[in-house]
Amino acid sequence: MTESHAARPIDSAAIARAAEVLTRGGLVAFPTETVYGLGADASNPTAVRAIFAAKGRPADHPVIVHVTDAGALDTKARDVPPAARRLAARFWPGPLTLVLKRAACVDDAVTGGQDTVGLRCPAHPWASALLAAFGGALAAPSANRFGRISPTTAAHVRADLGDRVDLILDGGACPVGIESTIVDLSGPATRLLRPGSITRTQIEAELGQPVPDAGPDAPRASGRLEQHYAPSTPVELVPAGALAARVNALRGERLAVLAPAAALLDRPAQVVARLLAPTAASEYGRRLYALLHELDATGAVRILIAEPPAGPDWDAVQDRLRRAAATQEMPHSL
Ligand code: TXA
Ligand code: MG
Repeated sequence: MTESHAARPIDSAAIARAAEVLTRGGLVAFPTETVYGLGADASNPTAVRAIFAAKGRPADHPVIVHVTDAGALDTKARDVPPAARRLAARFWPGPLTLVLKRAACVDDAVTGGQDTVGLRCPAHPWASALLAAFGGALAAPSANRFGRISPTTAAHVRADLGDRVDLILDGGACPVGIESTIVDLSGPATRLLRPGSITRTQIEAELGQPVPDAGPDAPRASGRLEQHYAPSTPVELVPAGALAARVNALRGERLAVLAPAAALLDRPAQVVARLLAPTAASEYGRRLYALLHELDATGAVRILIAEPPAGPDWDAVQDRLRRAAATQEMPHSL
């Protein structure tokens, strides 16, 4: 696959139309550096509720508020700790969401009724242009139906949400491909809520302290549910060295496989699609959802994915693959 991840030149007329749609309370899907977002005016609770209806998402899940700059720390949040300012200064604009105590102006529709708000300043040129043209903050979850694969192209959004969205901005394929890293700074201890392309190592280096995963009492985050980011075809994660044996054991089943070249040298007839797993974590992340979409469309009854390497750079890819496979029964034997 050779789809380009360079952002398309900005279409100012389309951005202006999108800003108008948002101003009158409509929904706009727009590219960010991570995945496409389904945006609405964050200050209009009716518009924000329309996001939940379009996605089929439970109303008590909070959505991220996308902002133009770190000034939002003082207008949308309160009791902002110095650590949050450091992270914003270092990583914004970029794929990092900060969960903070919310300011009184942030509506329950955005926070899911919680006392916290997730803030993110995106780096994608189309997202920045849209925020500037609209002139306000945008509430935006990923532009997919609840529980489905996140979209990294405008075509993914169209296929999944279609006319549930008033306008889709096509800025090309998303360059990061995996949702933002989420750090919770709303409580006494800083916690990692969701791994992303900005790694735990980078966050810890910036703060000079360990940033452990959130415990079970963490704020609700739909990305933290198992059975998230899932294709409709069952997904099974298999150690790369055991893949050939697993394929063998599933003789008679039509399989789609995502694996490094060496893991499946010959291609048995029942493997209807074999996609090559990228060897670098950044490229794997960038292409992960497009690969899952592609594997899901092969007509296979099962998707086998070779476990990628371990290590901090691979945390986000590991996390999304584990969730894609989470609903499936464990194999009885290899
Ligand atoms: O990269 C991203 O973050 C993309 C793009 C569009 O910005 N957005 C995204 O949104 O992934 P969504 O809604 O699919 O996932 C956002 C996650 C959810 O798990 C949500 O529950 C969590 O962020 N979240 C948002 N506000 C929160 C809050 N106040 N407290 C805890 N978690 C929050
Ligand atoms: Mg999502």
